[in-house]
Parts: sequence; C-alpha cells; structure tokens
Amino acid sequence: MAVNTGQRIAQVLQQGQVGATVQLSGWVRSKREGKTHAFLDLNDGSSLTGIQTVLARPEFDAQLPQLTVGTAVAIAGVLVASQGQEQTVEVQAQSVTVVGPAPAETYPLQKKRHSFEFLRTIAHLRARTNTFGAVLRVRNACAQAIHQFFQERGFLWVHTPIISTSDCEGAGEMFAVTTLDLGKTPDYTQDFFGKPAFLTVSGQLEAEALALALSNVYTFGPTFRAENSNTARHLAEFWMVEPEMAFCDLGGDADLAEAFLKHVFAQVLQTCPEDMAFFQNRIDPNVLRNAEQIIQEPFARITYTEAIELLTQSGRSFQYPVAWGLDLQSEHERFLAEEHFGRPVIVMDYPAQIKAFYMRLNDGCPPEQQTVRAMDVLAPGIGEIIGGSQREERLEVLTARMQACGLDPEVYWWYLDLRRFGSVPHAGFGLGFDRLVQFMTGMNNIRDVIPFPRTPLNAEF
Ligand code: 4AD
Ligand code: MG
Repeated sequence: MAVNTGQRIAQVLQQGQVGATVQLSGWVRSKREGKTHAFLDLNDGSSLTGIQTVLARPEFDAQLPQLTVGTAVAIAGVLVASQGQEQTVEVQAQSVTVVGPAPAETYPLQKKRHSFEFLRTIAHLRARTNTFGAVLRVRNACAQAIHQFFQERGFLWVHTPIISTSDCEGAGEMFAVTTLDLGKTPDYTQDFFGKPAFLTVSGQLEAEALALALSNVYTFGPTFRAENSNTARHLAEFWMVEPEMAFCDLGGDADLAEAFLKHVFAQVLQTCPEDMAFFQNRIDPNVLRNAEQIIQEPFARITYTEAIELLTQSGRSFQYPVAWGLDLQSEHERFLAEEHFGRPVIVMDYPAQIKAFYMRLNDGCPPEQQTVRAMDVLAPGIGEIIGGSQREERLEVLTARMQACGLDPEVYWWYLDLRRFGSVPHAGFGLGFDRLVQFMTGMNNIRDVIPFPRTPLNAEF
C-alpha cells in the first residue's frame, strides 16, 4: 500500500465531478440501512464533513454487518449528484474492502455525544470525533500561519535546547533530567551533564543569544512547567512561540504581538471556515465575533498602574486582593479583557518585584515603585495569552538585578557576555500556543486542544 497522498475526501467534496471514479480510504462514522440502499458516512480527517457512500442492496448485504462505526475501509466507486442538501456529490460504491474492523461490542466511540471528560480517557481515539478533528485541523492551521507570519518578515526559526541548565523564569518549576539513581543523595558531578539539568521552561535566553547575531528570530517548540496548577489553562507540557528582536523596544514588541495575533486569526478563518463555523455553532457562539474583533479592532493598551486603578474602581469584589505590587490573577485579567475593554488588552510596565530578572528596569522610578518594561496580552475568555518584555541590556544593571533575585551571575556567565559584547536594546515575547488554539476555538479546557495533554497525575498515552 503506497502512502495515501491521492484522493482525500475534502478535495473530492470540493472539486469532484459527477461521473468521476474515486478511490477513498477512511473510517466509518455512521451507517444507516434503508430498504434499497445502505449509507455510510466516511471520514478521513481531511474535513469535518465526511462523504456519503451509497451501497446498493441486496448487492452489499453480505458485507453490511462488518461495516460498523469505526471500521477502516477502502472504497471504490463513482461520484453521483447528492440527494441531500449538505453536499453536492456522494459515492455510489462499486467495491468496499474492510481494512481494519472495529467490533461494535467493544469500540468505545459509538455514534452518540460523549463528554469531553470521557473523551480524555480515550485520547488515542478522540481524534476520530468531529470536535477533535476540527481542533487538530485548526491547530495545524495556526502553526502554519505562525510560520508564515515570521517567514514573511524575515525572522529565522531557531531551535533552542529542550534540556537546559537555567531557570529562565526563575520560578523553580522545572522537571529534572537525570540519569542518577534516585534512591541515593544526588552527586551531580556524577550525573550525565555533570550538573543539575532540567526540561526548559522557555527558549528565551538562548533565543536572545541568537537574536544578538541574526537580528530577528523565533522559536516554536515544547516547553515544560512543573507547576501544580490544575486549571483549564495550564499544561505541564505546552508549546510556545517566542520571537526575539534586536534593536527593538517594548513598543515594537507590543506592535509585533498585535500584528501577529491579527495575522494568525485572519489566516485561520480563511483556511478553516468549516471548522470555525463548527466551533461557532457547537462550542461557543462568540468564536467568530471574537475572531473578527481581533482582526479588525486595535488592542487596548494600558499600564499596570492603570490596570490596578481600573480594578479598584470597578466596584467588583474579587476573590484575590487588588493592590499595587501584587500580580494580576486570572479573574482580574478576565475582568479587564472581557468586561472593561471587551477586547484584547496589552498591560505594560509591571512592578519589578513580580517579574523575571531579565526585564529592563524603567528609568526614574522611586525604589518601592520600580517597574520593568514587561507586557502581557490579555484575551477575553483566556486571560494572559502572551507574556513578553524588553530585556535588560545594561551589564551592571542586569548583574545587580540577578543578585537581587538570588541568581548566581557566574552560572549565567554566557548570558551576561551578551551584554559585554555588542549589547543592544532587544525585546521579545512568548505566546502560549495551546492557549491560542483555545482562544481561537472557544474550547473550555486546554486539555482538549492538545492531542495528549500532560497535567498533574496524568501522562497516559
Ligand atoms: O509568561 P511566560 O512565563 O513568559 C515566558 O516564558 C517568557 N520567557 C516569554 C518570552 O518573553 N520569550 O509564558 C509565556 C506564555 C504565557 O503568556 C502563556 O500563554 C503560556 O506561555 N503559558 C502556558 N500555557 C499553558 N500551560 C502553562 N502551564 C503555561 N505557562 C505559560
Ligand atoms: Mg507570564
């Protein structure tokens, strides 16, 4: 059997001519037996809609019992005009070959509505449902749109390491990578790398090194966080897109983030109209309105200090306290994006004490109100979708800030070298790719936009 790069159902539905012979392979989504004909809904993942396949009776009667939901089949036939209104063509089958049976008594995905919770327990099969097929096609389209955006602007896609010895975000949420006997007290000099190593939480520090040679770069890869947050927007393994630009300040960074989100939404609406309509009709009635708004309206931009004022003046009682110096919680972020502005908002200039060591200190702040050139893009329904900053490019300031954050400048010698040799103002951001897909599709839980989610106590599949 050669790789099936030939006829896919999506293509046949769009371009197939009545009278043409076709050979299609896929999985039976449903079967209906009428008096003179039986009907199979055949789906191969190329589109939400499958193709209706008509089997004449009694010719195919002997095969019908085997053609249960989930069975893999290869079908040869002729395209005929469809009686139904949803499609223009259907297949009049000439032969049907069962490639892989799926016994009705044991196949878990029968044709009925299953809860997303149940489908997570059969993540190896859930891509065969309408919702997950649509999620995965949109996810693919997002990835392609992201590469297109950066490639058109001359950014190089760079590959930063997945195994790292630095904690970029300084939050201590790293998974250890070791070959040591876990039963013994660790002697890291004997470990594989001769020192403690971890799965990376972000490719940023290495991306900075590359931007300070190649000007504009981006990473797009998996990142890992051992944060024990069992929420609908946290994964232990998630994908992140991190552009990094030399000769760029925070304003340029925010402009890029906004243009980037606009491009990705516009592109996905164009390439996946059927899947996006499905999300609008079945998952969240705001999906298309949100997308149009992202594309057309400018994002709001405020400072952290203004955000705190808006929250205090809102008259709302929040679960978490609101005060200058405290981090914004999800409920605060959502109030700003969903209720106050009703569109994405970029919050800038956060207090230094709640942000990572690498962010550039704003000049002229009183010590207790020291802020950094940070920005978060907050989206309706999601909260923080992008986090970024202008980086501290001044050697002395960065070294002092590292020490204040309890980091050993010796360990970060190479990162500091970037400020010793040819340092320039530079900036970048990180987009949570899975949160983007969540935002785009209106899916409630981040576990349902990645094929095989990793969360606390869950690494099945
Ligand atoms: O805000 P974060 O922690 O920023 C960084 O890692 C920077 N080094 C990025 C940079 O400037 N290059 O993470 C960036 C984004 C968040 O805004 C969020 O969308 C996503 O990554 N994110 C997660 N997504 C899913 N699960 C998690 N546990 C996430 N943690 C962060
Ligand atoms: Mg953040």
